[in-house]
Amino acid sequence: MTRDSRYDILFEPLAIGPVTAKNRFYQVPHCNGGGYRDPSAAAEMRGIKSQGGWGVIFTEQCEIHHTSEIAPFIELRLWDDADIPMIAKMANKMKEHGALAGIQLAYSGINGPNLYSKEIPLAPSAMPIRTFTNDPVQARALDKQDIKDLRRWFVNAAKRCRAAGFDLICLYGAHGFGIFQHFLSTATNQRTDEYGGNLKNRARFVREVVADVREAVGDQMGITLRLSLDEMIGDLGFANSEVRDFIEMHKDLPDLWDLAHGAWEDCSGPSRFKEEAAQFELVDGIKALTSIPVVGVGRFTSPDVMAKMIKSGTLDFIGCARPSIADPFLPKKIEDGRIEDIRECIGCNICITGDMTMSISRCTQNPTFMEEWRKGWHPEIMNPKGASDKVLVVGSGPAGLEAARACAERGYDVALAEADNMLGGRVSRERHLPGLSAWGRVADYREYQLLDLSRINSASCSRLTRFSFKFDGRHSSYC
Ligand SMILES: Cc1cc2nc3c(=O)[nH]c(=O)nc-3n(C[C@H](O)[C@H](O)[C@H](O)COP(=O)(O)O)c2cc1C
Ligand code: SF4
Repeated sequence: MTRDSRYDILFEPLAIGPVTAKNRFYQVPHCNGGGYRDPSAAAEMRGIKSQGGWGVIFTEQCEIHHTSEIAPFIELRLWDDADIPMIAKMANKMKEHGALAGIQLAYSGINGPNLYSKEIPLAPSAMPIRTFTNDPVQARALDKQDIKDLRRWFVNAAKRCRAAGFDLICLYGAHGFGIFQHFLSTATNQRTDEYGGNLKNRARFVREVVADVREAVGDQMGITLRLSLDEMIGDLGFANSEVRDFIEMHKDLPDLWDLAHGAWEDCSGPSRFKEEAAQFELVDGIKALTSIPVVGVGRFTSPDVMAKMIKSGTLDFIGCARPSIADPFLPKKIEDGRIEDIRECIGCNICITGDMTMSISRCTQNPTFMEEWRKGWHPEIMNPKGASDKVLVVGSGPAGLEAARACAERGYDVALAEADNMLGGRVSRERHLPGLSAWGRVADYREYQLLDLSRINSASCSRLTRFSFKFDGRHSSYC
């Protein structure tokens, strides 16, 4: 099949500074619970996305210096040259099928408790640090020498990224996590020198770092700046109106504006509270303030919504974190005209739970996520079947449906027994709860795939007993 011409716009190349993305599918930075502990697993996972057709693929946040680390959370580290081979592995995997490889550089400032390095955290202003783990630690205000050092650490990190083979650097200033937001927001910047006070002064640090990094690597690498569209604390922080002022004042400061939202819980809002494209109003009109590309997020899984975002001039790139986890082959499926095969993210945020528990992330829709390396699992390719021919799956809950789908895909004749009068088990009931209709995608996707695979015999309304089923060639019957 070929792609629907309505989606052609999603496949137009676009430059980001000195490099060009082959299409508009932009996997924004996302953690995976693997980070520096499981770099091979993280690299393989990104490599699968490269196969899946993404134009841009980013790492998760990567600590640039030991004076700001976020233990016990497990992200990436690029503290010195010894870390280069680990991240080079990721860059190589990302680029295998033509994606641009991006890395997100993070100096966590007021969010870095330094539980491992025991360094005193450095931030624009001296204040208690803000972490998920509520650590009783106080940050020291950066003095002028510290600021010079920090600028140099960013340049060193950028050079290491170039050596590792990356094409893009994202400077992290969103979700309350990155030092750039800490300087930009009056909530965290109470300085009275040239780095504090009015917006122009608060923006001085980011201007300096972008200029430093551009001078060091800007001829070969694109520089993106990730900001939150609104800090979500009204005028006490970096609100949407001030974000717009900042972008208007610094039209083409980076090579691309990467616009996230609020704190992490705002940005990755679950489907129960946030619809697809939920950030539309906050991002609408920003493109007109700048001459460089804009990427935005919003749990985009519908190619129609994606195309509309670009055609309407709202975004240039479609940013996806969770949709790229749920279906690493999303771009390829749109390109191949296989829309109905897209495994849509359901917005359950189980992927985040894995990261927050410092364990490997899991995905409700994509069981292969983060097992691509250790177990060799692939989201689209199944092992061939073994010696037996027939499989009986008892129960059509999420696990039963996936088992039936996987076995049918592998070539078994599958009988699926379900006592209820609909498929989906718990999901068939949960999907009717307020705000949870997207969870029905777990059943819908698999039901459609099973119908498409001729090797499945589904028996609804059949309460199975030891004696009540039999296989008859490729058919099963129940009583
Ligand atoms: C598991 C997970 C980890 C994330 N880690 C990061 C991160 O390291 N850096 C970052 O800027 N954003 C991170 N995010 C936020 C995403 O980049 C994105 O902005 C957000 O999830 C909204 O996009 P989506 O609706 O496409 O998921 C993460 C999101 C998820 C789901
Ligand atoms: S389906 Fe759930 S676990 Fe998977 S990416 Fe979406 S929100 Fe995360």
